[in-house]
Amino acid sequence: MSSDVNFFGKDIVSMRDFSRKDVEYIMDLAEEMLPYAKGEKRTKCLEGKILGNLFFEPSTRTRMSFESAAYRLGLHVMDVTQTSMTSITKGETLADTIRMVDTYCDAIVLRHPNEGAARLAANVADSPVINAGDGAGSHPTQTLLDLFTMKRSKGSIDDLNIVLLGDLKYGRTVHSLSHALTMFGAKLTFVAPESLQMPHDIIESLKSKGCNPYMTDDLNDVIQDADVLYVTRIQRERFPDPNEYKKVAGMYRVNNEALRESKKDLIVMHPLPRVDEIAPEVDSTEHAKYFEQAFNGIPIRMALLASVMGGEL
Ligand code: CP
Repeated sequence: MSSDVNFFGKDIVSMRDFSRKDVEYIMDLAEEMLPYAKGEKRTKCLEGKILGNLFFEPSTRTRMSFESAAYRLGLHVMDVTQTSMTSITKGETLADTIRMVDTYCDAIVLRHPNEGAARLAANVADSPVINAGDGAGSHPTQTLLDLFTMKRSKGSIDDLNIVLLGDLKYGRTVHSLSHALTMFGAKLTFVAPESLQMPHDIIESLKSKGCNPYMTDDLNDVIQDADVLYVTRIQRERFPDPNEYKKVAGMYRVNNEALRESKKDLIVMHPLPRVDEIAPEVDSTEHAKYFEQAFNGIPIRMALLASVMGGEL
């Protein structure tokens, strides 16, 4: 470990807590984790420790890749996948639930529908808490695997021209990601209908870091210059009014025709799940990186768990 980077015992709540050096440290460690993540090499560097994997909101990739990462490191996993099976249904608060889980395990992964839930958990738990997505707030482990995917695909993240498309208002992945990309001098373009554009406070925060994003609602305007097209799903479950969702549903569909004018080495990413915003015909092109991106959740989460729980390869 680099002498001035030390994650042992730390919470992973927001990308705002990360420096560029921290991000690079986790990405370098994830690179070392790759053969273990693929099962080509074996380690038991966290044997005897227990992970609490608490998911109070649906998830496929984050929950299962944390579980896979944990097993690849020799951890035991306690999994909660349904609130209805916990005493929260009897009125127990999240804070009390976390206080209990804290005594049963050595680190806690938490996904929760409420923004700020991970910060609350981190404040009451002694064990490290890792935010696996808090409402429309942030999703830092997704951001780290997104950055790792860009680095592995493009060689470097510095100065890339990155277009973020879709639901930039409710999509927590793009909130964390755009903040992190300012550390690498990336040029950002936000493509969304006006009602789903990036929230004003995030734009102001990006500007304060010297990043001046270009905003449009037309992908055709900007696709030619993009190095990375990061597509997001319209987050139906976060719309207070279903009629507002209907107005924007299906507005963007990335297909081979939409990519016709793009650079040959453009990569298309998506945190998944997708609905209809990327046509299946794109899957078999060289542009498609979203399934590889989902796999990259394993080495990145192995790197994070090993770092905060004190495991060495
Ligand atoms: N990308 C992501 O967070 O996917 P899940 O909701 O399936 O975990």
